[in-house]
Amino acid sequence: MRVPFLDLTAQYREVKEQVDRDVAEIFATSAYVLGKHNRSLEERLASMHGVKHAVAVNSGTDALRILMQASGIGPGDEVVTTAFSFVATIETVVQLGAVPVLVDIDETTFNIDPAKIEAALTARTKAILPIHLFGQLADVKAIQAIAERHGLMVLEDSAQAVLNHHEGVFTGNWGHGAGLSFYVTKNLGAAGDGGMILTNDDEVARQSRSLRIHGMGRERYYYDDVGYTSRLAELQAAVLCAKLDRLEAWNARRGELAAIYLQETQGVGLPATQPRNNNTWHQFTVRTPRRDELMAHLKEREIDSAIYYPVPLHLHAPYRRFSGGEGSLPVTEKVCRECLSLPIHQHLSDDQARFVAQTVSEFVAVRA
Ligand SMILES: Cc1ncc(COP(=O)(O)O)c(C=O)c1O
Repeated sequence: MRVPFLDLTAQYREVKEQVDRDVAEIFATSAYVLGKHNRSLEERLASMHGVKHAVAVNSGTDALRILMQASGIGPGDEVVTTAFSFVATIETVVQLGAVPVLVDIDETTFNIDPAKIEAALTARTKAILPIHLFGQLADVKAIQAIAERHGLMVLEDSAQAVLNHHEGVFTGNWGHGAGLSFYVTKNLGAAGDGGMILTNDDEVARQSRSLRIHGMGRERYYYDDVGYTSRLAELQAAVLCAKLDRLEAWNARRGELAAIYLQETQGVGLPATQPRNNNTWHQFTVRTPRRDELMAHLKEREIDSAIYYPVPLHLHAPYRRFSGGEGSLPVTEKVCRECLSLPIHQHLSDDQARFVAQTVSEFVAVRA
């Protein structure tokens, strides 16, 4: 039984009617830039997350960079985050001239370990940047308490956490603001790149809107900041609006598949959910010291899997100078050696998930 990692064609089939109609209308009216679909996406996501402002941008990377810049992060500021993430998390910090300070993670949730944050703070620390990895929030209450004690901002990398909440309080509300990603493979994925800034801060929102169009302020061709070209294409906004109608149902389906995996997979480290978090299962990631063998075994049986992430960020050449090198983040490094993400998209059948769980469990039983 073939089990693909993602099925973007099946996603398109579900939204085809609406997407085809809206895309045709955009071409017919030439309304390509910051039109009604952008406004609708911003309004709906602000309302669903319970935040005052949503600002659509060109990518999750731009959402993070613009959010940080609008929040006053700049040269020499230290931003506490982790090295178990996609590169954009620390790339954007470095692009602003700030310094990523890397803290180790919790082995079972993959998120920043709050017990290790305070030892990393200095007089230059300006913000904590938790990544809500694989579809669940980091320990936001503990992080918020530390930030309050030390007068720091919390900026959320919510690229993988659209519609995620802790005790009903959604991402975007746990600090100064959050950056979402709509990259193709995300739970809410565009037909290309897209992103969004969520914030309750009027000034951060105003500045983000300006920065996404070259720092253009209230008047056309008058500039207040050095900004970017980062509008979300109207065509992408239309695709995202169509998919947003289905996102809660799609996330619920991922939850059903995760329940099958959690129940029926034996012999590997299973992902943990923080108490009172919803988990939207962007990835279902297991851990085993025999990761590469397991991956090959799954491939032989036509089951796709993927490694997020094979090398921690602090061991890549451009970022080595921000850490003590190999051995400095032992949990992160171990997880990178052992992690394997199994297929968990909403178009998998129960039988496919059971087949994956059985194949993993059999592999471990035989090797043991
Ligand atoms: C954790 C994390 N941060 C940031 C980003 C950047 O988002 P994008 O690819 O939309 O620029 C991603 C997306 O891949 C991500 O997974």
